[in-house]
Amino acid sequence: MEQMQKVALITGAGSGIGRALALELQSHNFQVYVSVRRDSQLNELRALGLYPLLLDVNDPQALDLAIQQLEQQTTRLDLLINNAGFGAMGPVLDFSTAELNQQFQTNVFSVIQLTRRCLPLLAKTGGTVVNIGSVSADFVTPFAGIYCASKAALHAVNTALRLELAPFGIHTVLVQPGAIASAFGDTASAHAGQLLSAQSPWWPLRDGIAKRAAASQQKPTPAALFAKKVVAQLLQSRPPRRIRAGYGSWALPFLAKFLPDALLDLLLRRQFLLPENGSLKLKSD
Ligand SMILES: NC(=O)c1ccc[n+]([C@@H]2O[C@H](COP(=O)([O-])OP(=O)(O)OC[C@H]3O[C@@H](n4cnc5c(N)ncnc54)[C@H](OP(=O)(O)O)[C@@H]3O)[C@@H](O)[C@H]2O)c1
Repeated sequence: MEQMQKVALITGAGSGIGRALALELQSHNFQVYVSVRRDSQLNELRALGLYPLLLDVNDPQALDLAIQQLEQQTTRLDLLINNAGFGAMGPVLDFSTAELNQQFQTNVFSVIQLTRRCLPLLAKTGGTVVNIGSVSADFVTPFAGIYCASKAALHAVNTALRLELAPFGIHTVLVQPGAIASAFGDTASAHAGQLLSAQSPWWPLRDGIAKRAAASQQKPTPAALFAKKVVAQLLQSRPPRRIRAGYGSWALPFLAKFLPDALLDLLLRRQFLLPENGSLKLKSD
């Protein structure tokens, strides 16, 4: 018998945006599969009526297993929400190759890998791929360059997917959040703390780095409110190609597009406590 209840899969739904989207979709009668990384999270999510899968999006074996479980349990997939991600914060030149890879693997490449694996179910259902991008793709700040670059890359991938999946009857929607209350700032601050060492040429700028890592949690929109707005648009008969929601989601891309670069630099230097040009010296100088 044909399965009638609509089905969603959301990655990284143990906290923040992913969890809020899961609960909102559940309230619209979706069967919601959620991926988390820790065993200890499974029971709590089951108790909420969600269907948890164990998945580190960068682990190919875990991906095989999660897809196998999904295909055993459902014959349709109406929404795939590629949400799992994190913000690697710190000066661009402080990143090791492994750290660069980790950021792009999680925020960009894993989206491609999971979407490919979900293609048969999505095509069968005429489903929708939803990619969680960021204002940071457009509004680039110091000390978040690698995160911004990963989200800009995701936006580009999203645009190409939108055109390439449409012939199969699959929609693609980019969600561009502003600042949303979540664990994002804690993870970003922990990352910045690990990355920056006293040997870094940018060590004297550590207060600005810490400020940037915490920036998304200064005036954040509650995740449940964000999720309500996003889901209401996703469930329209013709969902928009891009959904902006949350604090700064309209203003920041607008500023980045229309302010002259020199003025943007001035604002960002003040905001993130950068000293006068030429005032820092490399230790070897
Ligand atoms: N909050 C904001 O202001 C904001 C703004 C723009 C865009 N975003 C984007 O929104 C998405 C969700 O972030 P959030 O704000 O809700 O932060 P969050 O509360 O930290 O949630 C991120 C989720 O992604 C998961 N994750 C990270 N790496 C993973 C991996 N390798 N495999 C599987 N799961 C992984 C985390 O799992 P663990 O708990 O196991 O780490 C966590 O559940 C991210 O893509 C982020 O870039 C957030």
